[in-house]
Amino acid sequence: MEELKIKTVVRDAYTGVVKNGTGCCGGTVSSRAHARSCGYSDAELAVIPEEANLGVSCGNPTALASLKEGEVVLDLGSGAGFDCFLASSRVGGTGKVIGVDMTPAMLEKARENARKGNFGNVEFRLGEIEHLPVADNSVDVIISNCVINLSSDKQKVFNEIYRVLKPGGRVSISDIALIADLPPALKQSEEAYAGCIAGAVMIEEYKRFVEESGLGDIRVTIRGPSRCDGGNAGDPIAQGVRKALKPGESLNDYAVSLSVEARKAGDI
Ligand SMILES: C[S@@+](CC[C@H](N)C(=O)[O-])C[C@H]1O[C@@H](n2cnc3c(N)ncnc32)[C@H](O)[C@@H]1O
Repeated sequence: MEELKIKTVVRDAYTGVVKNGTGCCGGTVSSRAHARSCGYSDAELAVIPEEANLGVSCGNPTALASLKEGEVVLDLGSGAGFDCFLASSRVGGTGKVIGVDMTPAMLEKARENARKGNFGNVEFRLGEIEHLPVADNSVDVIISNCVINLSSDKQKVFNEIYRVLKPGGRVSISDIALIADLPPALKQSEEAYAGCIAGAVMIEEYKRFVEESGLGDIRVTIRGPSRCDGGNAGDPIAQGVRKALKPGESLNDYAVSLSVEARKAGDI
């Protein structure tokens, strides 16, 4: 699929997720149970607006980022604000959290959640992660949860991450990568693209994008199954993914969830 088509497929799919109030990744379990399986504690889930958790995450990047009071955090593909709201209390009133997402319906939901929850240090910006609406050398920590696999130009995303990070700034990403080549039915499925599988690349290729950007101290860890199991029968993305799978086949044969940590050289 070419870039423009990918953006349309992804934007339309996630507009649908906001409207349905739940995503494909949660499978047959609730968004809350899905978040627990991604590593979120009940204490964390208790402090964020319930509607911010759409069941579309694949890890818990804020857990790895060890955020500090006063830091500026940027969340790539912030969705309804899930990780931004968690980061908010960790960086406090002297810190700031910026969420960037290209889907207007997501942004609207995230802003509504911020208003309702009174998250004064969180701001949401409409934009693409390949062209971040963020100044050079201005961010302490970049987080992202199940988004970069959806980009048609992952090298550009990591180059942008490098550009906006302050020297000494760090990266903590949860994402999906492949461990085996996808069969054509999955590779060509628009639903599997929106469902975080068909746009994913092999782990080695993912590492190369990070290295090429100039980031150092890179650590890539397999966290477990992709969790995008297509089991949520009520979700159109999940239904499409299931259709593209042969009987007996599982997405876990092809994809895993990863955590990616890295740092830009220098002192903050
Ligand atoms: C799987 S959801 C994850 C949302 C959020 N991180 C969470 O864990 O709840 C992917 C999100 O990334 C956004 N997205 C996908 N590709 C993007 C791009 N190239 N630029 C900006 N946002 C993008 C989508 O609009 C959607 O909100």
